Amino acid sequence: MFHPKLFENRSVVVTGAGRGIGLEVARQFLDCNARVLVHTGRDRDRDLPEFLLDAESERRAFLVPADFMRENGTRDFAAAAAKVFDRVDVLVNNAGTMVGRFPAGELTDEQYGHVVRLNQTSVVEVTRALLPLLRASGQAAIINTVSISALTGGSPGSAIYSASKAFVATYSKALARELAPDGIRVNCVSPGTITTDFHERYSSKEKLEQTRRTIPLQRLGTAEDCAPTYLFLAAPTLSGYITGQVIEVNGGQLIC
Ligand SMILES: NC(=O)c1ccc[n+]([C@@H]2O[C@H](COP(=O)([O-])OP(=O)(O)OC[C@H]3O[C@@H](n4cnc5c(N)ncnc54)[C@H](OP(=O)(O)O)[C@@H]3O)[C@@H](O)[C@H]2O)c1
Repeated sequence: MFHPKLFENRSVVVTGAGRGIGLEVARQFLDCNARVLVHTGRDRDRDLPEFLLDAESERRAFLVPADFMRENGTRDFAAAAAKVFDRVDVLVNNAGTMVGRFPAGELTDEQYGHVVRLNQTSVVEVTRALLPLLRASGQAAIINTVSISALTGGSPGSAIYSASKAFVATYSKALARELAPDGIRVNCVSPGTITTDFHERYSSKEKLEQTRRTIPLQRLGTAEDCAPTYLFLAAPTLSGYITGQVIEVNGGQLIC
């Protein structure tokens, strides 16, 4: 548990926060007294939990839907953020998904474009658009969600997704150097196999059980396992000398 005032007077933007890992990250920032712009995914009203709606009515959370696959989707999202905040202290680029499992020889241009646009281009666009607000912080942190598959290559059908996460990891390292003079730190959280809707869609129960057995900690991860690493990387008091790093959160699934 972090100190309940760790992010007092801090403005935080979390994308892909209507469910899964992003939702838990948003919840933990709210618990630490941050003001949080919560990107609810493509739909404003998808089964959002009570705590978010309560925080919205107390004006601690600001709920903004945006489809990053739409033309101007990221631009309009950043414009909405600029209406709410005059500076951004923490940006968590977390929206993304595998989209589907596409065998290399059958991958269509459309599928390729979708995976790249959502998982890598949207991160570049949201970051670029919010840079003036991040610079205004003086001690901002960007935390990007990548994946264990950026290092391992993932499993069959996820080549483009895995490569797009590797792109984001490398992009983050380059930004860490470039933005250090602006007082902006840039790091990544790399989840292993985390039980969210993600694997409901892309992995069978048998595949997940097989994976579980290979994990030294003998269990799949949860959003609650991941979220504290984001808060750690966001807080200058805890990680002020850490930038350009990827922290693997995977129960030991990858030890190298
Ligand atoms: N779960 C894992 O094992 C795992 C492992 C490694 C990395 N990750 C990464 O962790 C992040 C969060 O994943 P999760 O497991 O929490 O999955 P999730 O529950 O499927 O959440 C994905 C989030 O991305 C949003 N998103 C999807 N398509 C979008 C679009 N076109 N425009 C805007 N937002 C869109 C979703 O919004 P909607 O509700 O509208 O779909 C949702 O908020 C992703 O970047 C994922 O690649 C997950």
